Amino acid sequence: MNALLTSELRVFNQPDRFVEGWYWLLPSHQLKRGQVKAVQLLGRSLAVYRGQDGRAIAVDAYCPHMGAHLAEGKVEGCALRCLFHNWKFAATGECVDVPALGKPVPVRLHLWHTAEQYGMIWLWTGEFPTQPPPFVPELEGIECDSALGTHFVHNCHPNVVMINAIDAHHFNTVHHLPLEIVFSAKELNPNAIEFSNTTRGGDSRFIRLIRPFYQTAVTYSLCYWYGTVGTVTLGPDRLHFYILFALRLLEGGKTEGQTLLITPKRSGIHGWLGNRLLLWLTQQVAHYFGKGDTRIFQTIQFNFKTPTKADHSIAQFIQHVEQQKILSWETWHEIN
Ligand code: FES
Ligand SMILES: [Fe+2]
Repeated sequence: MNALLTSELRVFNQPDRFVEGWYWLLPSHQLKRGQVKAVQLLGRSLAVYRGQDGRAIAVDAYCPHMGAHLAEGKVEGCALRCLFHNWKFAATGECVDVPALGKPVPVRLHLWHTAEQYGMIWLWTGEFPTQPPPFVPELEGIECDSALGTHFVHNCHPNVVMINAIDAHHFNTVHHLPLEIVFSAKELNPNAIEFSNTTRGGDSRFIRLIRPFYQTAVTYSLCYWYGTVGTVTLGPDRLHFYILFALRLLEGGKTEGQTLLITPKRSGIHGWLGNRLLLWLTQQVAHYFGKGDTRIFQTIQFNFKTPTKADHSIAQFIQHVEQQKILSWETWHEIN
């Protein structure tokens, strides 16, 4: 395998660009009806509010009149009113009231597409979404319960954090898991790639212990969206755990992330209670996952100088990321 020098890559591990896609803005419960908040995303300042109809609306932050930050403003019904001279903007972005004139002026806010999934508000960084918000392939179309896991900041690029989960060798070296993993990769669409373990796990004592819970391969699969969101599926055949790692690039090539814990909805009060326990268990699994790597993320200077056969999945991931539509930090304009 050839070296994949960081300097030759178009978007992977680059601090000033990113893949067009859905990015996490804010946990849904942190934006109540009638609230407006400021969010920084990929170099852009946004104001995000929830109107009385319950929809989350995301707009560029600065008022087209004189540039006041709209997160200082007030939600009125489904519209947003700027604090400074009280111009009012409808949920379509259109200016609908200028009090000093007694009529609106023909300007509008730039509106971004939002969606809510797994208890998170997501934003599409392009004009029109070409994909749905990130989902766990196994749970497509299934109603789910979810909970917020951990919020974190790492001193390296989101892409570098993401490849950790398919770095099969490091399970032995960092996490001391006596587990043999070989992935097969499948592109689900131009923005999503799934890596699934194909082995029975090896022949350690640990594997002999968990073997009865698996018919064939030991379940461990990852689905990556836009190179910065990763869903993990693992656990015995009869009880899968689902963790979503939602990352976003910070200034200087760093990472801000939030984990989401997910499980299919179960009916009745017992289903509800059972799910609380399951989500708590999922958090323990997620915790175990994160443990050990934090130190590495603090100091790594990623440079894939000497890839080996064991790094094959990482190389596949990089290639998949490189083929996607690339946008520039702050302007969100396409880079060719
Ligand atoms: S700056 Fe917003 S109304 Fe004037
Ligand atoms: Fe790890």
